[in-house]
Amino acid sequence: MSASFQAAAAGHAGIAPDPRRPLSPKTGEAMSLRQPTRSFEIPEPARLSPEPIPASLKEAMRHLVGGVSVVTAGLGDERTGATVTSAHSLSVDPETMVVSINRSSSTWFAIQKTGHFCVNLLRADQQDVADRFAGRGGIKGPQRYEGARWSVLETGAAALDDAVASVDCEVEHILERHSHAVIFGAVRAVVIRGGPALVYSHGRYGEYRHGMEPVA
Ligand SMILES: Cc1cc2nc3c(=O)[nH]c(=O)nc-3n(C[C@H](O)[C@H](O)[C@H](O)COP(=O)(O)O)c2cc1C
Repeated sequence: MSASFQAAAAGHAGIAPDPRRPLSPKTGEAMSLRQPTRSFEIPEPARLSPEPIPASLKEAMRHLVGGVSVVTAGLGDERTGATVTSAHSLSVDPETMVVSINRSSSTWFAIQKTGHFCVNLLRADQQDVADRFAGRGGIKGPQRYEGARWSVLETGAAALDDAVASVDCEVEHILERHSHAVIFGAVRAVVIRGGPALVYSHGRYGEYRHGMEPVA
Protein backbone atom coordinates (compact mmCIF):
# COMPACT_ATOMS: atom_id res chain seq x y z
CA MET A 1 0.00 0.00 0.00
CA SER A 2 1.14 3.49 -0.67
CA ALA A 3 -0.35 6.89 -0.05
CA SER A 4 -0.04 10.02 -2.09
CA PHE A 5 0.74 13.07 -0.05
CA GLN A 6 1.83 16.59 -0.67
CA ALA A 7 4.85 17.64 1.32
CA ALA A 8 3.86 19.79 4.25
CA ALA A 9 0.27 20.13 3.08
CA ALA A 10 -1.91 21.19 5.99
CA GLY A 11 -5.25 19.68 6.81
CA HIS A 12 -4.31 16.16 5.66
CA ALA A 13 -6.57 13.45 7.04
CA GLY A 14 -5.55 12.56 10.56
CA ILE A 15 -3.41 15.67 11.06
CA ALA A 16 -4.72 18.50 13.18
CA PRO A 17 -4.49 21.87 11.39
CA ASP A 18 -1.58 23.96 12.59
CA PRO A 19 -3.05 26.99 14.44
CA ARG A 20 -0.12 29.11 13.23
CA ARG A 21 -1.16 28.73 9.60
CA PRO A 22 -3.68 31.02 7.88
CA LEU A 23 -7.10 29.56 7.01
CA SER A 24 -8.12 29.26 3.39
CA PRO A 25 -11.06 31.58 2.60
CA LYS A 26 -12.36 28.89 0.17
CA THR A 27 -12.16 25.70 2.24
CA GLY A 28 -11.70 27.03 5.76
CA GLU A 29 -8.73 24.68 6.14
CA ALA A 30 -5.26 25.65 7.29
CA MET A 31 -3.12 26.59 4.31
CA SER A 32 0.43 25.45 3.78
CA LEU A 33 2.94 28.21 4.39
CA ARG A 34 5.01 26.94 1.54
CA GLN A 35 3.10 25.30 -1.29
CA PRO A 36 4.55 22.02 -2.49
CA THR A 37 5.35 21.72 -6.16
CA ARG A 38 5.01 17.96 -6.47
CA SER A 39 3.25 15.02 -4.95
CA PHE A 40 5.18 11.99 -3.81
CA GLU A 41 4.23 8.37 -3.53
CA ILE A 42 5.29 7.19 -0.11
CA PRO A 43 4.84 3.80 1.49
CA GLU A 44 2.46 3.44 4.41
CA PRO A 45 2.73 3.73 7.31
CA ALA A 46 4.54 7.06 7.22
CA ARG A 47 4.49 9.77 9.84
CA LEU A 48 3.33 13.09 8.40
CA SER A 49 4.72 15.84 10.53
CA PRO A 50 2.26 18.53 11.61
CA GLU A 51 5.19 20.88 12.23
CA PRO A 52 6.06 23.80 9.93
CA ILE A 53 8.72 22.87 7.35
CA PRO A 54 11.83 24.22 9.20
CA ALA A 55 11.00 22.17 12.32
CA SER A 56 10.16 19.10 10.24
CA LEU A 57 13.41 19.43 8.31
CA LYS A 58 15.43 19.61 11.53
CA GLU A 59 13.57 16.59 12.89
CA ALA A 60 14.12 14.65 9.63
CA MET A 61 17.86 15.42 9.65
CA ARG A 62 18.20 14.11 13.22
CA HIS A 63 17.67 10.64 11.72
CA LEU A 64 20.80 10.91 9.60
CA VAL A 65 23.97 9.37 10.98
CA GLY A 66 26.83 11.79 10.27
CA GLY A 67 30.55 11.31 10.58
CA VAL A 68 31.98 13.97 12.90
CA SER A 69 34.97 16.04 11.76
CA VAL A 70 36.81 19.07 13.07
CA VAL A 71 37.59 21.69 10.45
CA THR A 72 40.64 23.67 11.50
CA ALA A 73 41.29 27.13 10.13
CA GLY A 74 43.44 30.20 10.74
CA LEU A 75 47.02 30.63 11.93
CA GLY A 76 48.70 31.44 15.26
CA ASP A 77 46.52 33.47 17.62
CA GLU A 78 43.82 33.57 14.96
CA ARG A 79 43.48 29.78 14.91
CA THR A 80 39.95 28.53 15.30
CA GLY A 81 37.79 25.73 13.94
CA ALA A 82 34.43 24.03 14.03
CA THR A 83 32.98 20.62 14.64
CA VAL A 84 30.99 19.61 11.55
CA THR A 85 29.00 16.77 10.11
CA SER A 86 28.87 18.41 6.68
CA ALA A 87 32.40 17.54 5.50
CA HIS A 88 32.72 14.97 2.75
CA SER A 89 34.52 14.34 -0.49
CA LEU A 90 33.01 15.83 -3.64
CA SER A 91 35.21 13.91 -6.06
CA VAL A 92 38.42 11.91 -6.05
CA ASP A 93 39.55 12.98 -9.52
CA PRO A 94 40.40 15.71 -8.95
CA GLU A 95 40.67 15.22 -5.18
CA THR A 96 38.13 17.67 -3.80
CA MET A 97 36.46 18.10 -0.41
CA VAL A 98 33.33 20.06 0.41
CA VAL A 99 32.15 21.47 3.72
CA SER A 100 29.25 23.68 4.69
CA ILE A 101 30.15 26.39 7.21
CA ASN A 102 27.90 28.88 8.98
CA ARG A 103 28.73 32.42 7.86
CA SER A 104 28.43 33.74 11.40
CA SER A 105 31.17 31.42 12.70
CA SER A 106 34.80 32.32 13.39
CA THR A 107 35.82 29.46 11.08
CA TRP A 108 34.21 31.14 8.09
CA PHE A 109 36.23 34.32 8.67
CA ALA A 110 39.47 32.37 9.18
CA ILE A 111 39.00 30.29 6.03
CA GLN A 112 38.37 33.39 3.95
CA LYS A 113 41.48 35.04 5.36
CA THR A 114 44.00 32.21 4.89
CA GLY A 115 42.44 30.27 2.01
CA HIS A 116 43.00 26.87 3.57
CA PHE A 117 41.49 24.41 6.04
CA CYS A 118 42.02 20.87 7.27
CA VAL A 119 39.24 18.30 7.77
CA ASN A 120 40.04 15.97 10.68
CA LEU A 121 37.79 12.90 10.89
CA LEU A 122 37.38 12.29 14.62
CA ARG A 123 37.90 9.01 16.43
CA ALA A 124 35.13 7.65 18.66
CA ASP A 125 37.06 8.58 21.83
CA GLN A 126 37.52 12.21 20.74
CA GLN A 127 34.16 13.55 21.84
CA ASP A 128 35.95 16.07 24.07
CA VAL A 129 37.63 17.54 20.96
CA ALA A 130 34.23 17.66 19.23
CA ASP A 131 32.75 19.53 22.19
CA ARG A 132 35.57 22.08 22.25
CA PHE A 133 35.32 22.81 18.52
CA ALA A 134 31.55 23.09 18.81
CA GLY A 135 32.24 25.94 21.23
CA ARG A 136 30.67 24.18 24.22
CA GLY A 137 31.40 26.02 27.48
CA GLY A 138 32.20 29.20 25.52
CA ILE A 139 35.63 27.94 24.41
CA LYS A 140 36.91 30.11 21.56
CA GLY A 141 39.72 30.26 19.00
CA PRO A 142 43.14 28.83 19.97
CA GLN A 143 41.73 27.49 23.27
CA ARG A 144 39.88 24.87 21.23
CA TYR A 145 43.26 23.31 20.33
CA GLU A 146 44.32 22.70 23.94
CA GLY A 147 44.60 19.14 25.24
CA ALA A 148 45.34 17.56 21.85
CA ARG A 149 48.45 17.18 19.64
CA TRP A 150 48.59 18.89 16.26
CA SER A 151 50.86 18.90 13.20
CA VAL A 152 51.03 20.86 9.98
CA LEU A 153 50.83 19.05 6.64
CA GLU A 154 51.02 21.16 3.45
CA THR A 155 48.80 24.23 3.73
CA GLY A 156 49.52 25.42 7.28
CA ALA A 157 46.14 24.34 8.67
CA ALA A 158 46.35 22.11 11.76
CA ALA A 159 46.06 18.32 11.47
CA LEU A 160 44.95 16.47 14.61
CA ASP A 161 47.60 13.82 15.32
CA ASP A 162 45.22 11.13 16.56
CA ALA A 163 42.33 11.64 14.16
CA VAL A 164 41.09 8.75 11.99
CA ALA A 165 42.27 10.80 8.99
CA SER A 166 43.25 14.38 8.16
CA VAL A 167 42.56 15.95 4.78
CA ASP A 168 44.44 19.18 4.16
CA CYS A 169 42.79 21.53 1.66
CA GLU A 170 43.32 24.76 -0.20
CA VAL A 171 40.15 26.72 -0.92
CA GLU A 172 39.16 26.26 -4.56
CA HIS A 173 35.67 27.72 -4.70
CA ILE A 174 33.02 29.15 -2.37
CA LEU A 175 29.25 29.30 -2.75
CA GLU A 176 27.51 31.61 -0.28
CA ARG A 177 23.87 30.78 0.21
CA HIS A 178 21.50 31.70 3.04
CA SER A 179 23.15 31.25 6.46
CA HIS A 180 25.98 29.04 5.15
CA ALA A 181 28.86 28.92 2.71
CA VAL A 182 29.65 25.74 0.82
CA ILE A 183 33.42 25.60 0.58
CA PHE A 184 35.19 23.44 -1.97
CA GLY A 185 38.75 22.44 -1.12
CA ALA A 186 41.45 21.12 -3.43
CA VAL A 187 43.15 18.35 -1.44
CA ARG A 188 46.86 18.97 -0.85
CA ALA A 189 47.65 16.17 1.63
CA VAL A 190 45.93 13.17 3.22
CA VAL A 191 47.00 11.26 6.35
CA ILE A 192 45.14 8.09 7.34
CA ARG A 193 45.58 6.67 10.84
CA GLY A 194 42.45 4.53 11.16
CA GLY A 195 40.35 3.65 14.19
CA PRO A 196 36.62 3.67 14.97
CA ALA A 197 34.91 6.86 13.82
CA LEU A 198 32.85 9.27 15.92
CA VAL A 199 29.31 9.63 14.54
CA TYR A 200 26.38 11.85 15.47
CA SER A 201 22.65 11.12 15.26
CA HIS A 202 19.51 12.16 17.15
CA GLY A 203 21.55 14.79 19.02
CA ARG A 204 24.02 12.26 20.44
CA TYR A 205 27.53 11.05 19.72
CA GLY A 206 28.22 7.40 19.07
CA GLU A 207 30.85 5.02 17.80
CA TYR A 208 30.72 3.57 14.32
CA ARG A 209 31.62 -0.10 14.51
CA HIS A 210 32.82 -2.13 11.58
CA GLY A 211 31.02 -5.40 11.25
CA MET A 212 27.50 -3.92 10.96
CA GLU A 213 24.75 -6.30 10.04
CA PRO A 214 24.48 -6.30 6.24
CA VAL A 215 21.00 -5.31 5.04
CA ALA A 216 20.90 -7.64 2.04
C1 LIG B 1 27.71 17.35 15.76
C2 LIG B 1 27.83 18.78 15.28
C3 LIG B 1 27.83 19.03 13.92
C4 LIG B 1 27.96 20.36 13.44
N1 LIG B 1 28.00 20.56 12.09
C5 LIG B 1 28.20 21.82 11.62
C6 LIG B 1 28.36 22.05 10.22
O1 LIG B 1 28.33 21.14 9.40
N2 LIG B 1 28.59 23.34 9.81
C7 LIG B 1 28.63 24.38 10.70
O2 LIG B 1 28.83 25.53 10.28
N3 LIG B 1 28.48 24.18 12.04
C8 LIG B 1 28.29 22.93 12.51
N4 LIG B 1 28.17 22.73 13.87
C9 LIG B 1 28.21 23.88 14.79
C10 LIG B 1 29.66 24.37 14.96
O3 LIG B 1 30.52 23.37 15.49
C11 LIG B 1 29.67 25.58 15.92
O4 LIG B 1 28.61 26.44 15.58
C12 LIG B 1 30.90 26.38 15.78
O5 LIG B 1 32.02 25.64 16.19
C13 LIG B 1 30.81 27.62 16.65
O6 LIG B 1 31.96 28.34 16.37
P1 LIG B 1 32.10 29.91 16.62
O7 LIG B 1 32.16 30.07 18.10
O8 LIG B 1 33.35 30.23 15.94
O9 LIG B 1 30.91 30.57 15.99
C14 LIG B 1 28.04 21.42 14.36
C15 LIG B 1 28.03 21.17 15.75
C16 LIG B 1 27.92 19.86 16.20
C17 LIG B 1 27.93 19.59 17.69
